[in-house]
Amino acid sequence: MRIEFARFSPDDTDLLVDFLTGQEWPFHAGTQDPDAVKSRVADGLYDNAEFRTFWVLADGEHAGLIKLMDLTDGTPMFDLRIGQEWRGRGLGTKAVAWLTGYLFAELPDINRIEGNTRQDNRAMRAVFRKSGYVKESHYREAWPDPDGKLHDSVGYAILRRDWLSGTVTPVDLHDE
Ligand SMILES: CC(C)(COP(=O)(O)OP(=O)(O)OC[C@H]1O[C@@H](n2cnc3c(N)ncnc32)[C@H](O)[C@@H]1OP(=O)(O)O)[C@@H](O)C(=O)NCCC(=O)NCCS
Repeated sequence: MRIEFARFSPDDTDLLVDFLTGQEWPFHAGTQDPDAVKSRVADGLYDNAEFRTFWVLADGEHAGLIKLMDLTDGTPMFDLRIGQEWRGRGLGTKAVAWLTGYLFAELPDINRIEGNTRQDNRAMRAVFRKSGYVKESHYREAWPDPDGKLHDSVGYAILRRDWLSGTVTPVDLHDE
């Protein structure tokens, strides 16, 4: 499969609306409203100083979406969505490898990249681990789902020096 990453442009708004509203996103809050997506694009919230968005193209098809966030605050974060029919085929892993290299290259002053997910998102947690990200945080009952059920939230991060050297620096969790 040929995998490429293409920067989102406002010309892609209809594709983005279809992508976000036309399928289930079990680990994201609720269903998105098409008009709200369009208005976020019009407000520049997919591509401005703080945010950059990229499509994951698989053999030319819009298979996934990467949203890079907090680009000016020293520690960027990201949201990753692989479309339903494309999940479990290695795209999420390739996307995290790509966005990690992209962020460290584009933002020479950053030292870390962070990502959060719900505790029961086994696939995303596997992707973090496989990509050299280390679990740093665990917040109990911090993530309400659309039905009001509270899930734990977990946070992962990668350090620039680990990314450069291929090492994984563990967290000193037992420091009390
Ligand atoms: C989470 C997500 C990005 C992972 O991407 P993906 O392309 O499906 O994952 P990959 O094919 O790269 O698989 C990565 C690993 O996860 C594992 N995995 C995939 N689906 C899994 C599942 N349902 N349960 C447990 N592990 C799973 C795979 O086995 C693989 O590990 P391995 O290579 O050691 O076997 C993707 O499934 C997705 O977009 N899901 C919906 C949106 C979402 O949850 N985004 C994350 C928000 S924080």
